[in-house]
Amino acid sequence: MPHIRVEDIGIDAVKKRAEKGGKIIKFVATSLERDEALLAIEHKDEHFFLLYKKVKNGALLKYDKTTRPLNLTTLKESIELCAKALELDVVESNIENKKEKRSPLFASAYYKKIEDFIDFETSFSEVAVEVGFGSGRHILYQAKNNPQKLFIGLEIHTPSASQLLKQIEIQGLKNIFVVNYDARLFLEILPSNICANIYVHFPVPWDKKPHRRVIGEDFINESLRVLKKEGALELRTDSQKYYEYAFEVFSMPSRCRFEVKKNHTLPIVSKYEARWLLQEKNIYDLTLFCDEDSEEKKSVYSFSFCDLRYNKNMMQNLPKKPQVRDGYFFHFERYYTIAEDTFLVRCAFGDFAKPEQKYILISEKESTYYPYEPIGSSANMSAHNAMKEFLNGECHSC
Ligand SMILES: C[S@@+](CC[C@H](N)C(=O)[O-])C[C@H]1O[C@@H](n2cnc3c(N)ncnc32)[C@H](O)[C@@H]1O
Repeated sequence: MPHIRVEDIGIDAVKKRAEKGGKIIKFVATSLERDEALLAIEHKDEHFFLLYKKVKNGALLKYDKTTRPLNLTTLKESIELCAKALELDVVESNIENKKEKRSPLFASAYYKKIEDFIDFETSFSEVAVEVGFGSGRHILYQAKNNPQKLFIGLEIHTPSASQLLKQIEIQGLKNIFVVNYDARLFLEILPSNICANIYVHFPVPWDKKPHRRVIGEDFINESLRVLKKEGALELRTDSQKYYEYAFEVFSMPSRCRFEVKKNHTLPIVSKYEARWLLQEKNIYDLTLFCDEDSEEKKSVYSFSFCDLRYNKNMMQNLPKKPQVRDGYFFHFERYYTIAEDTFLVRCAFGDFAKPEQKYILISEKESTYYPYEPIGSSANMSAHNAMKEFLNGECHSC
């Protein structure tokens, strides 16, 4: 990741120079626990923090992992501009010689953010989702053979997402959207009855940690909500344990039926499948068919903090340890001051398997998530309400 090492000027000097240093630095938030500060950056319509951190031989100016922009060029440029604005003496930099491979691809029209799917509508007659497309062989094959259908590919591994965007460009396909995000959270965002197919081919088996699997009760319920009547969720796996576990999970919900096949061949063999075929492993298919349309998604989540305002004692009343509740958790992790009457809290919260990390900016005028609100999921909403109670000093139960 791009960063520079500089002569340390001290956090106070960072604040002073940032005030004079032009438009790129909006404000500085100083850590209450560490020798570091967050610099709020606005660059190329993106808002994020850079981290100024004291280290043994000086200081580092680098990305902040909670708000890091995906586009590496934006990140690199902002570090350079910021160093200039703060008049920092650069000792070492990995910015110049870092080969740019990924960022132009993430500027592709086929790269989508999770926010692009809130109230999602499309002119394609059908929609399919592929979870964890890996090398992309299956989604590319499907998209080429079904040009009337939109394929939304979800992949948490960024280099694989970048590789698929490259292939879309090379093959001139117009019907694949690539989303670099956790599929379990993504499904919660989609409208009801929109998908004809959901493909989950060779998910990581997690045989020793089944709670980390993509397939689970919540995932199946959300899949049935987003699938149209007669739509199908296809799980293909080489792991007998995963197959047995999925068999149980698929048996639970009503309004659906499923079928099982063993060693069934598909017209396209994915990279992982090719590996398992070489080892002569059995391949299991479980296909879940949705028998009924679902209700429209009602949830309109509001992540407002209403009339939450700064007061000087609020930080002391916040719990230090993670707070675990039924179906969600929250943890006030780190604190920063921006001004006498403004502070910033970094918190982790939401679902245990797919937590969010965000900053909350609390001032005398207003309180908001910074720079962006969380994704609208029920676990995030419950955690938000609980955190709001604590920040308002209204939680007496703990
Ligand atoms: C074993 S690989 C299979 C790749 C591909 N489907 C194939 O058959 O070759 C599993 C892929 O799922 C991705 N993955 C794992 N959990 C995910 C999640 N929650 N959301 C999206 N992708 C995920 C991993 O990054 C990995 O690329």
